[in-house]
Amino acid sequence: LIAIRELYKNKDQYLDQKITVGGWVRSIRDSKAFGFIVLNDGTFFEPLQIVYHDTMDNFEEISKLNVGAAVIVTGTLVATPQAKQPFEIQADTVEVEGASAPDYPLQKKRHSFEYLRTISHLRPRTNTFQAVFRIRSLTAYAIHKFFQERGFVYVHTPLITGSDCEGAGEMFRVTTLDMENLPKTDEGKVDYSKDFFGKETSLTVSGQLNGEAYAQAFRNIYTFGPTFRAENSNTTRHAAEFWMIEPEMAFADLDDNMMLAEAMLKYVINYVLENAPEEMNFFNSFVDKGLLDRLHNVVSSEFARVTYTEAVELLEKNNDKFEYKVSWGTDLQTEHERYLTEEVFKRPVFVTDYPKDIKAFYMKQNEDGKTVAAVDCLVPGIGEIIGGSQREDDYEKLLVRMKEMGLAEEDYKFYLDLRKYGSTRHSGFGLGFERCIMYLTGMGNIRDVIPFPRTVNNCDL
Ligand code: 4AD
Ligand code: MG
Repeated sequence: LIAIRELYKNKDQYLDQKITVGGWVRSIRDSKAFGFIVLNDGTFFEPLQIVYHDTMDNFEEISKLNVGAAVIVTGTLVATPQAKQPFEIQADTVEVEGASAPDYPLQKKRHSFEYLRTISHLRPRTNTFQAVFRIRSLTAYAIHKFFQERGFVYVHTPLITGSDCEGAGEMFRVTTLDMENLPKTDEGKVDYSKDFFGKETSLTVSGQLNGEAYAQAFRNIYTFGPTFRAENSNTTRHAAEFWMIEPEMAFADLDDNMMLAEAMLKYVINYVLENAPEEMNFFNSFVDKGLLDRLHNVVSSEFARVTYTEAVELLEKNNDKFEYKVSWGTDLQTEHERYLTEEVFKRPVFVTDYPKDIKAFYMKQNEDGKTVAAVDCLVPGIGEIIGGSQREDDYEKLLVRMKEMGLAEEDYKFYLDLRKYGSTRHSGFGLGFERCIMYLTGMGNIRDVIPFPRTVNNCDL
């Protein structure tokens, strides 16, 4: 089978030649003696028209096909200078690989994204979702390419874990216990020592802690895998299952972290602009009119940098504009993040040195005793896309902080060990992969950039 994309790219090579294509019927109409099929094969979203005639043995069968049917077509590619499309196929044969029922849920009209979410098994057959998921695939490749070119080692960190990296208590429990008949301890609590792992376990919220162990051996590593959060927030930017990229570098401070994050984002933007120009133009025309200008500006200018304390001063002056008022010590909400990046800086911005009480236990404490060496990267349209920090590398300071925050020392023994045996200054961050795809495509809802989204009350298909 020849890909429709290939026909568009190298059309001169195929004109007046016999070719075979295979795909799914987008539309079909027939007259008495001939008919037209518009075919899509997933390789490109420009339509390919097929002309078939009643001289074919199975003309009846073809004419009765419904939208969505899978067919294999052999014929001659002919130029159509008068038509909208540059060519069509004059078919010799149309083989029906799989017919489609008359209630096929995708019709020629434009469907809303909401509706398409209810048929996430079929929405990849639409132009928008073919573009989204092609960009998603390319971006994953670009991220690997970026890190591999720089000598970072790709580490597979576990999905089942006994620790809570972010300490936010948003874990999905993993258990084999009989829910109807839970074993209990003498104090009446669930007895997890009877469970599969002999302890309470969950799906990981982040691969960072394990990633740090590998950074303390390879220097530079990255993870790229699924993470899980039982955040009960029904927003356009939160999913219960999402993918995260987490680089970790030994002998690196917060500045090195920001340089890496900025280089990585610029690299993937350039990569998709260069390698998927048709898809990026499609988004610019149909999804987000300012997208290409914005992305071109991002790659050609420096990200802004501001401390949390400076950011709060800027935001406090505009508290009348916000639902949640800002003062020093409050966590920044999406409305504040977007205000900073969209109204104040008008480009991506790194916010650093957050109050320690709103950040995770592992972040390095600053000299002031109040803040930690954290960094979030905020981008227009989304807000936080990256969260990272320099890590606390001092055994005693880390232990004290863990106790203050009520973490059980025995669950983090390996993590403390790393501070005992050749501890280094080290830093890393997590890029939310879906938020990155939203940023690159202009798509406004995280449910529309992950093939089968998992969100509150939604694990249907
Ligand atoms: O800021 P977060 O929670 O940072 C960490 O997990 C660190 N362990 C990362 C590190 O330093 N290695 O999450 C990182 C990023 C966020 O900036 C956001 O882009 C994304 O992960 N993210 C989510 N994406 C989709 N749905 C959710 N529920 C998300 N929670 C976080
Ligand atoms: Mg964060």
